[in-house]
Amino acid sequence: MRVVILPTADDVAHYCAEQIIHQIQQKSNTVLGLATGSTPVASYQKLIQACSKKEVSFAKVSSFNLDEYIGLESTHPQSYRNFMNQELFNHIDIKFENTHVPDGLSPDFEKSCQAYESLILQKGGVDLQLLGIGENGHIGFNEPSSSLNSRTRVKTLSPQTVANNARFFKVGETQPQLAVTMGIGTIMDAKKVVLLATGSQKKQAVANLIEGSISAFSPASILQMHPKTMVIIDESAAELLALNDYYLHIEDVQIKLSKHKNV
Ligand code: GLP
Repeated sequence: MRVVILPTADDVAHYCAEQIIHQIQQKSNTVLGLATGSTPVASYQKLIQACSKKEVSFAKVSSFNLDEYIGLESTHPQSYRNFMNQELFNHIDIKFENTHVPDGLSPDFEKSCQAYESLILQKGGVDLQLLGIGENGHIGFNEPSSSLNSRTRVKTLSPQTVANNARFFKVGETQPQLAVTMGIGTIMDAKKVVLLATGSQKKQAVANLIEGSISAFSPASILQMHPKTMVIIDESAAELLALNDYYLHIEDVQIKLSKHKNV
């Protein structure tokens, strides 16, 4: 696991966008796994800027989102489909038909979840999976106690997640208690994983992810088993890391080595 600690949330967004742009420059038909939540928004803004400056093109890119609320129309302001359209897809040159978000209104979730998995495989699998992390360590909507081998399926949101996400819903508006989410096994199949966390409210989840035991209690901790995971965090989210200085030192050495290689 590579741990990149940067001074600010803006640095995290910049670094993340660079990773995604580099990935697309290496493989124009990259399959991206995308995330919602407030954390990736700044990275999406950087991608929009890069696309408008023609530094990157999404024309051949496909995307699969992690999750969707159950019961919301795709046009509902809080649906994750709507979020992705507003925050990214409407502003870049990706083909809308190449963007995929789980169907939160499926009449048969077993079937639609399997179809989502099959479509990912058909496209050759996810090349780069972007993740945020919940305060309780969830990835996607894989809440604590989720099977570490799970596939795309319906999950019941934890009271903590419902409370954390209540800020996005209007007072009195019905907030979904269920979601459809890629499983942890689905996420682990991605060739690369990039997880973002910013702000001190994420510091415990980040410490559990990087330095805790692998456990369904902290679903993100399974990423310790993934051969290519990069965790990009700001200083506030890194506050509880016991080996903070070591991670900074590794990145320092990496930078020196890459400069040396270019000489
Ligand atoms: C949401 C999403 C996750 C996201 C997390 C953190 O509920 N399902 O994919 O990573 O919670 O959200 P935020 O970035 O707003 O803290």
